[in-house]
Amino acid sequence: EAPRIHITETGNKTETKRLPIALIIGVKKGGTRAVLEYLRLHPDIVAPGPEPHFFDTHYTKGFEWYRNLMPETEEGQLTIEKTPSYFVTKGIPQKVYEMSKKTKLIVVLRDPVMRAISDYAQIAARNPEVKPFSEIVFENYDSYTVDTRRAIVKVGVYALHLTRWLEYFTLNQIHIVNGENLIRDPASELRDLQTFIGVKPHITGEHFTFNITKGFPCYRRNTSQQSWHCLSDDKGRPHPNVSSLVRSKLANFYRPFNHRLYLMTGKHFDWT
Ligand code: A3P
Repeated sequence: EAPRIHITETGNKTETKRLPIALIIGVKKGGTRAVLEYLRLHPDIVAPGPEPHFFDTHYTKGFEWYRNLMPETEEGQLTIEKTPSYFVTKGIPQKVYEMSKKTKLIVVLRDPVMRAISDYAQIAARNPEVKPFSEIVFENYDSYTVDTRRAIVKVGVYALHLTRWLEYFTLNQIHIVNGENLIRDPASELRDLQTFIGVKPHITGEHFTFNITKGFPCYRRNTSQQSWHCLSDDKGRPHPNVSSLVRSKLANFYRPFNHRLYLMTGKHFDWT
């Protein structure tokens, strides 16, 4: 357990900031914001809203700096955070291990082809001058050779990133959320997540509604109130048209890595 310093008294409750016991480490565009916001519906889970980027950007500032970013917790509450770049950044598994070798790791995975298209939609929303998708992911457009140096491609090679985490953590410390199922059936993913984190089951189907207009689940904190929240419009953006040929060439590239992921985790995904 993290050291108890900076104790503040609020009424008769003792509150203190603690280092996270669980991290949502990735993947970018997998559905990480949805998982964080859903978990924050649990009364025993607290998390900062923004991504701390401690292990990749601010590590030299030290653990006290990191701990200070966390919300206050009461006795029995658990702290988590999400920074999706952790999953793919070299050197981070060791740093997290040094914080605590008991840290629980959550990875939200989604069909890597769809993940790349989603990543591209985000890049294009921020920079309308961006090159077409196919010119970024293929090194040679005539032979459809995938450009493996591109971050947009590399993130989706899940098995390679996971291998680096398994040098420091065991498989049962790593929980994989199925990003497609998270949209179809958030309650079932949340049931498994609550078990993994070790909190009593609180978040259920009553916390979710499928919003037809948005095409995604929206959620409520209080199941006796009709106050539904949806993620912001930059989650669930329209995707650009990517031809089925381009998709299938990219899928062929990812297929052996996906297969390795199934062998490593025993989890099967319905990715093409
Ligand atoms: P798209 O924007 O491509 O649809 P992240 O939070 O890791 O950036 O992931 C964003 C993705 O979360 C979205 O990608 C969307 O598919 C997925 N998602 C899952 N649940 C969602 C929800 N309730 N609302 C909006 N997007 C959701």
